[in-house]
Amino acid sequence: MPSLLKLDNLHITVEKNEIIKGVDLEIKSGEVHAVMGPNGSGKSTLAYTLMGRPGYQVTGGKIYFKDEDITEMEPEERAQRGLFLSFQYPVAIPGVTVASFLMTTLQSLSKTGNGRFTELRKNFRKNFKENMALLKVDPQFATRYLNDGFSGGEKKRMEILQLMTLQPQLAILDETDSGLDIDALKIVSEGVSNYLNPERAVLCITHYQRILNHLKPHFVHILAKGKIIASGGPEMALELENKGYKAFGVEEQQGVSL
Ligand SMILES: Nc1ncnc2c1ncn2[C@@H]1O[C@H](COP(=O)(O)OP(=O)(O)O)[C@@H](O)[C@H]1O
Ligand SMILES: [Mg+2]
Repeated sequence: MPSLLKLDNLHITVEKNEIIKGVDLEIKSGEVHAVMGPNGSGKSTLAYTLMGRPGYQVTGGKIYFKDEDITEMEPEERAQRGLFLSFQYPVAIPGVTVASFLMTTLQSLSKTGNGRFTELRKNFRKNFKENMALLKVDPQFATRYLNDGFSGGEKKRMEILQLMTLQPQLAILDETDSGLDIDALKIVSEGVSNYLNPERAVLCITHYQRILNHLKPHFVHILAKGKIIASGGPEMALELENKGYKAFGVEEQQGVSL
């Protein structure tokens, strides 16, 4: 299988503090990877950096996407190539409806001449309706303002709706499971499973193993203090659930989590 994402000895500094201290990771198409770790271990820092968020400085190593070095690329350039990040704390944009936000995103991505996005834009209305039905959201959801007064479950559905609209090749889900009740978790997981195909991959960042019951990972990695301290199969997530991070030599609480 071709390589989608490759991290080569990645070091990341935020506000002069080195948060990620040499991470190697390869994700191939068709794979689901889970990155688990205590609060403050650097999971979100890693996710934001992969999307090119300002303020997250790569101070060593490289990020490759489909064998292309994207370490210094702008977020928009990464999105055009097929990278996607769901946000742990999505921002509210009053005055912009869900439907118009998604359409505008597709429009700006298709301006670059990438035929894939032009095609998605053409079929937007049809796909959007189908996706909303799949996620069991009220059609009225389309006309609400983005994340304005959304419940936790609605925010997560919004993220998955974005995922289904943009159809990226690699989806990075940062704690998409946090704050979801069992039913919402199931619907969101189904949305992600529905998106998956042999050309795509998912990097699921989570503090808890719960979502992994639905979204079966092929590989699980434990991130602690900015390093991957263990990698294994899905059984490792269960071991973590049963024995806790201590079994892996990690203190549960490490600091502030963003
Ligand atoms: N923008 C930032 N400014 C200052 N410190 C940050 C920033 N982002 C992350 N950090 C620090 O980096 C560490 C890792 O945070 P984060 O990546 O949010 O962890 P996780 O997502 O695993 O809970 C924490 O100690 C946090 O305080
Ligand atoms: Mg986080």
